[in-house]
Amino acid sequence: MNAPRFFAAAAFLLAPMIGAMAAAPESPAGASSCSGCHPANTGIDTPIPRLNGRNAAEISEQMKTFRAGQRSATVMGRIAKGFSDDEIEAIAAWYAEQR
Ligand code: HEC
Repeated sequence: MNAPRFFAAAAFLLAPMIGAMAAAPESPAGASSCSGCHPANTGIDTPIPRLNGRNAAEISEQMKTFRAGQRSATVMGRIAKGFSDDEIEAIAAWYAEQR
C-alpha cells in the first residue's frame, strides 16, 4: 500500500472515532476530581461507593449534608465545602447519567 492511500484509509477509519469522542458529554467542573476516589470502574475493589448512575437528588443531598457538617465524614466534609450548590447539582446530574 502506498503512503497517500494508507493515510486516506487511516483518516477514513479514525474520523468516526473522533466524532464519537467529541459527542461524549463533557464532565462539569470538578467532577473529574471525584473519580480519583469514587471509581467509575466496577472492577476496582474499594469501600468508597460508586457514584455512576446514582440518583442525582441523592448525590446533591449527600454533598450538601457533608458540606453543612450534618453527616460525619473523613474527607467528604472538606471536599464538599469547595463546591457551590450549582456546581454540586451539575456534578450530580452528570453522575446520574454515567454508567
Ligand atoms: C479523597 C477521596 C474522595 C474524593 C476526591 C471524593 N470523595 Fe466522595 N467520598 C469519599 C469517602 C471516603 C466517602 C465516605 C464518607 C467519608 O468518610 O468522607 C465519600 C462519600 C461520598 C458520598 C456519599 C455516598 C454514599 O453512598 O453515602 C457522595 C455522594 C460523594 N462522596 C460524592 C463525591 C463527589 C461529588 C466528589 C467530587 C466533587 C467526591 N465525592 C470526591 C472519598 C472521596
